[in-house]
Amino acid sequence: MESTRNLKSALWLITVALLLASVAAVRTYGKSFEDQARIQMPSDRVEDASKDSEEAEKGTRWAVLIAGSRGYGNYRHQADICHAYQILRKNGVAEENIVVFMYDDIADNYENPRPGQIINSPMGSDVYHGVPKDYTGKDVNVNNLFAAILGDKSAISGGSGKVVDSGPDDRIFIYYSDHGGPGVLGMPNPPNLYAPDLISTLQKKYDLGTYKKIVVYLEACESGSIFEGLLPEGLNIYVTTASNADESSWGFYCPGMIPSPPEEFYTCLGDLYSIAWMEDSEIENLRRETLKDQYEIVKKRTSNHETYRGGSHVMEYGDVVNHVDHLALYLGFDPANENVSFPAVPNDNLKMVSSVGVHQRDADMLHLWHKFSRAAEGSPRKAEAGKELGNTMALRMHIDESVKMIAEVLFGADRASAILKHAVEPGQALVDDWDCLKAMVRSYESRCGFLTQYGMKHTRAFANMCNAGVGVTRFTEAAAEVCATPNGVWQPLSSGFSA
Ligand SMILES: *[C@@H]1O[C@H](CO)[C@@H](O)[C@H](O)[C@H]1NC(C)=O
Repeated sequence: MESTRNLKSALWLITVALLLASVAAVRTYGKSFEDQARIQMPSDRVEDASKDSEEAEKGTRWAVLIAGSRGYGNYRHQADICHAYQILRKNGVAEENIVVFMYDDIADNYENPRPGQIINSPMGSDVYHGVPKDYTGKDVNVNNLFAAILGDKSAISGGSGKVVDSGPDDRIFIYYSDHGGPGVLGMPNPPNLYAPDLISTLQKKYDLGTYKKIVVYLEACESGSIFEGLLPEGLNIYVTTASNADESSWGFYCPGMIPSPPEEFYTCLGDLYSIAWMEDSEIENLRRETLKDQYEIVKKRTSNHETYRGGSHVMEYGDVVNHVDHLALYLGFDPANENVSFPAVPNDNLKMVSSVGVHQRDADMLHLWHKFSRAAEGSPRKAEAGKELGNTMALRMHIDESVKMIAEVLFGADRASAILKHAVEPGQALVDDWDCLKAMVRSYESRCGFLTQYGMKHTRAFANMCNAGVGVTRFTEAAAEVCATPNGVWQPLSSGFSA
């Protein structure tokens, strides 16, 4: 048993080594893209009347910013959110109109080499200062998020009580960054957020008549699955997602990449789609750039210049016609960029951004590996990091294997792999019966342990089981059977990882 574990740990170690090697390999490969770092667009467009039309707007700009994770290995998600806050403030959006959800365990984390600060790019300055602590710690949860979007103060528990108290002329920008899985987004406190619950919250907001238009930017693995086949047109909601329904999104500014974080950071500083829209927003004249313009620019960069090497497919959903709106209507406007013509010429810092990202789900392994390998030989920190790395690897193996074994029990060895991987047709929702999917996740977790941010990818398998007509009762029997065997029961390794 222990020897099987050791063997499997060795396999994971090889995986980590390959990951590191692939990061190293692209250092040179990525360079050839330096000169094509930006999409070319007609720059001879006529000055439009957007400033006047913007000033004729009666409404208020609102924003909801959500980092769905916790832990230093997920540094990048809270860094993204803080950065977005700074952009909105610089562009004149009032603090009272920006609701921030972040666990807030990064700035003062013992692993943070710059105490009290957070950066979102290697050369970037602190983005943490001034970010309001509306919802932190245990108050970052689905219930408070939905209540805040709906402007329902009475449904909030804890936190600052700030909500989107919007009216019919107002515009709302919602930006979320974290891990996700098919049909699901992570939250730092359980439960996770399921796609139809977000959609129905948006529908309720529409029914309340308390907005003019909403724009959602969403960074997560399989983020397309949150809206694919689910978000109707006609709600005046325009969405872009970091990835389609079936693929990962990518961490960026990770150790080993070019440009790399400063030496003392051994965690990714940002995410590719997120830094793409934010770094673009900072240099453009947002009264001239439209949502569509930004979608095209972000799509290009997030696809790693159409190679999809360490990149993903940025998608649009909902009322795509709304992408003709100027960004200033949602993100505000920085007067310093008033004379910039579209598209803006990126500065040298952006030009050197050329290597590919790190798979969202591997970024924490990369963090733990660097933490482990950089700790002094024989130090308590090395032992602690080794244990963390070993346990993370073992837990991943347990999750992958138990889900695979459940599929084998239910479908036989031949059909199991199709059930694990099958993706629904584009335009179709992930699952017909979301209650079935939620119940299966709960059932899995009660028999086999916490699914974790890594294991969220297996909601695809559970969804396929629901679609194939497996009821929750049969699933629960299979999970109980699998996770009662010695290989199925998850137990932390007694000894740490050592290499
Ligand atoms: C933009 O151009 C106008 C006219 O030349 C000038 O007065 C203004 O200072 C410029 N704004 C900025 C931020 O450079």
